[in-house]
Amino acid sequence: MRKRVFSGIQPTGSLMIGNYLGAIKYWVASQENYDNVFCIVDLHAITVPQDPEALKARTREVTGLLLAAGIDPKRSILFIQSHVSAHSELAWILNCFIPMGWMQRMTQFKEKSARHKEQVSVGLFDYPSLMAADILLYDTDFVPVGEDQKQHVELARDTAQRFNSIYGETFVLPEPLIPDIGARIMGLDDPTKKMSKSETASGHAIDLLDPPDAIRAKIMRATTDSLREIRFDESRPGIFNLLTIYHLFSGRSQKDIEAQFEGKGYGDFKKDLAEVVIEGLRPLQERYRELTADPTRIDSILAEGADRARPIAEKVLAEVRRKVGLG
Ligand code: TYM
Repeated sequence: MRKRVFSGIQPTGSLMIGNYLGAIKYWVASQENYDNVFCIVDLHAITVPQDPEALKARTREVTGLLLAAGIDPKRSILFIQSHVSAHSELAWILNCFIPMGWMQRMTQFKEKSARHKEQVSVGLFDYPSLMAADILLYDTDFVPVGEDQKQHVELARDTAQRFNSIYGETFVLPEPLIPDIGARIMGLDDPTKKMSKSETASGHAIDLLDPPDAIRAKIMRATTDSLREIRFDESRPGIFNLLTIYHLFSGRSQKDIEAQFEGKGYGDFKKDLAEVVIEGLRPLQERYRELTADPTRIDSILAEGADRARPIAEKVLAEVRRKVGLG
């Protein structure tokens, strides 16, 4: 039996290179060795205010981008979270087993609730419970995510362990898979802050659908420092981040890149980086255009994905309901 991979992505903004380099790239690669389930998590998206039309459109856009990046719907299950009601139901049941103290430790809630002060919903607080449900419904072994999701995956694992210790073996214990390099791509405008698709400042992120000129402009404006040497030095977050992006898009070794830019200035490096990113995204952008030429195609892939996901999730949910004494 192949090991199972599950991961999810929120349709909350334009997908950007942080999502690609920290997660999606590994999802594509994991199709070779694992049995994969990928989910567009619209129920998570509504934990902060969303425009209904925009949410629906984004959900399709994210699906198109995942397909364009190389997710193959024949090999992997690709579906929308709200199409499989077992996610909401298991999240409720898990709510009744997760101690408040565990949730109160979640750093992402602390950050997000500070940002959305006026409207902090109960859903935003409870977000990790729904995420645990996503993961545990599919007997997941591995969860490929960026660094910011590690704590949530650990909470899912702790929840599984707690449930199993009360009711006996029920859930598979999931493990986060976090890349050594690229797990935390930083904002171009402020390299001390994680790049985020919900950040709207124009020089912050490179979106996967950005045209070449926008990519050039954003990279040329990216914040660096007043030093000169082009080196992978973590204590210089601006240039380190740009070099990391270069390394991941070009596939070239760090040594090789440092040697190429020895004695050159930041301007030369940034120009080259822009071309590397443009070329790196070109095939994805072309495939996206082809795929979205027929708008019915994405909806039929999503309907089929949900039909394949549902029986897997419902089997696990039925076992949980029986063990808890529901019904
Ligand atoms: P989301 O939608 O914020 O991000 C999707 C994936 O992209 C990674 N990521 C990054 N990686 C590197 N550098 C960055 N700057 C960066 N920004 C984002 C994220 O770590 C993530 O892997 N809660 C999840 C969605 C989710 C989920 C799940 C994930 C819901 N249920 C179950 C795994 C399993 C989220 O908001 O990801």
